[in-house]
Amino acid sequence: MPRAQVPVTGRSWAPGSLWPMCGIIGVTGSDDPLRFVLDGLALLEYRGYDSAGVVLVATAGEAEGLSGTGALWRRRSAVRGESIPALERFAGTDLVPGARTGIGHTRWATHGAPTEGNAHPHLDCTGRVAVVHNGIIENHRHLAAKLVAAGHVLRSETDTEVVAHLVEAEVTAGASLLEAVQRCVSEIRGDFGLVLASADEPEVLVATRQTSPLIVGRTSSLGLVASDISALLETTRELYALGDGEIAELRPGVIRVVDRAGTRVEPTRLRVGWGVRAAQREGFEDFMSKEIHEQPRALTDTILGRIHADGTTELEELGIKEIELAAISRVIVIACGSSYHAGLTGRVAIEAWAKLACTVEIASEFRYRNPIIEPGTLVLAISQSGETVDTFHALREAKRRGALTVVLTNVVDSLMTREADGVLYTRAGPEIGVASTKCHTAQILLLQVFALHLASLRRSLSTDEIAELAALVVAVPARVGDVVARFDEYRHTAEQLAFVDDVFFLGRGGGYAVALEGALKLKELAYVRAEGYPAGEMKHGPISLIDRDAVVVVVANRGSLSAKLLANVEEVRARGATVVALCDTDDPEVAGLADIVLEVPHTDETVAAAVLVVPLQVLAYGVARARGNDVDRPRNLAKVVTVE
Ligand code: G6P
Repeated sequence: MPRAQVPVTGRSWAPGSLWPMCGIIGVTGSDDPLRFVLDGLALLEYRGYDSAGVVLVATAGEAEGLSGTGALWRRRSAVRGESIPALERFAGTDLVPGARTGIGHTRWATHGAPTEGNAHPHLDCTGRVAVVHNGIIENHRHLAAKLVAAGHVLRSETDTEVVAHLVEAEVTAGASLLEAVQRCVSEIRGDFGLVLASADEPEVLVATRQTSPLIVGRTSSLGLVASDISALLETTRELYALGDGEIAELRPGVIRVVDRAGTRVEPTRLRVGWGVRAAQREGFEDFMSKEIHEQPRALTDTILGRIHADGTTELEELGIKEIELAAISRVIVIACGSSYHAGLTGRVAIEAWAKLACTVEIASEFRYRNPIIEPGTLVLAISQSGETVDTFHALREAKRRGALTVVLTNVVDSLMTREADGVLYTRAGPEIGVASTKCHTAQILLLQVFALHLASLRRSLSTDEIAELAALVVAVPARVGDVVARFDEYRHTAEQLAFVDDVFFLGRGGGYAVALEGALKLKELAYVRAEGYPAGEMKHGPISLIDRDAVVVVVANRGSLSAKLLANVEEVRARGATVVALCDTDDPEVAGLADIVLEVPHTDETVAAAVLVVPLQVLAYGVARARGNDVDRPRNLAKVVTVE
């Protein structure tokens, strides 16, 4: 078990199943449901803070300002980071007398800008069904088209709203909320945690999930539901993990769970041994280790609906015509920090698969260098935050010089998205730790999807070749899951290196960017001098620094350059360095050359970067923790750098 294992049990709750996006809370049977929901949202806000919203279910005629025909009271706000305080002004006002049921949501936007109109809860046409959602509904466009054809009016740009309208149709035909959800849920593809309320059943909530977790709970007088445990811990320890595909009907003091066929199911009780604060980190010691563990999920979400194992890619959201994309002749990537390293990995794919010339530039240098932008140049800015000022100005400069521009970012509607011609979003969820982990690997994977998309538009590879590569890309989240599962082992290895002073990270080909990222992580977190270098270049200078005190980490996974890399390893070994090898499990040759081994399951070298970087994240994490450093807030650094 990993050291940071979440200390609860339950079939659907494990680090690999963490869902980073959006917070959901619901209660029925409360004397003050608004207070309950707002308090819960405050605890869930770390999951997303683009907007927040609440719905209270009033007994018809009792409340003022009701939506639709009258029994759902909804308020939403989309002031980033301030939405929950904005909703606080309704608390204690008794605007909805008699309401005992409420749902709330704090959003981390994936589909649709973070506006009030896109904030949850979403309502159906009649205003009598409300839904909050965490996850991604993959077939929402298809469902929306069907609903519109049937006369429904959809008001938001979200993937969520379709659910309210699907349920509306069933409820209008006489179904209970539970029956309606049961009938609709099989139409929905993707990952979701959904909670619904209906004006027709003021003391009922219905919750269902697929992949994204939902926790249900009760006291003698309350029915409770939340996207994670932290929002419910202060109220009850009687908590249950809702299973995949199960549907819970909550009433005051009563939980009833059925499967999609309607058969009664006994939900799994969670054993909870910790308090609210730890719960926000889901039991992990810090956000960084939590975010390292979230990577399989972050990567799965990032590629969901965008690439399929048969090689088809869907990136309509990019907002650039395919004909324009097919016509580009050159790509310039601009970025800073870990995003720059992701760009270096992306270049390998863009060159090899899309057969496009690609350079990767440090954004702060690009801007002042008088860069040449020829017709047909695509400038691709990579920025987790979408706000880094160097990247922003470089992007603006590229646009001024006539480039077609795309930003690849994790933050919906961030500054750069408003500047660029097209946008690609990673869906890693909010990243709190200053040093990028899950956003970095999500960037890498999305760049590979983008490279394959370009390859199919440009026909630079055969259909079979594209399908073969797509299958490799699609398998990456699971491979990353395999390495994340070895977190403790890597951390233990890191502890052996706790007091190193000087470390070289060497790689070749695809391993070079991984070496750079490993060195950056060690520098920024452990405050250890660390240098990433192309292994073949060592002999042109840096090898003079190698002696018995040097530690050299080599990215030595099996691949086309293995033999050459091993020759470089011999060179540093001969000079007495301690060699740490990041290599495939069962590679006796590399293991025989190394003093310390970080094993990874073999992954094809074309897509191995996102897998290989994980042990190096843990290495930096482990050294930093062993030295007593604050890994979430390393000294002198900031998460978003808005100065030049
Ligand atoms: C800061 C962060 C790094 C990040 C870099 C670029 O230096 O500490 O983790 O890689 O900014 O940030 P961006 O948001 O543009 O990816």
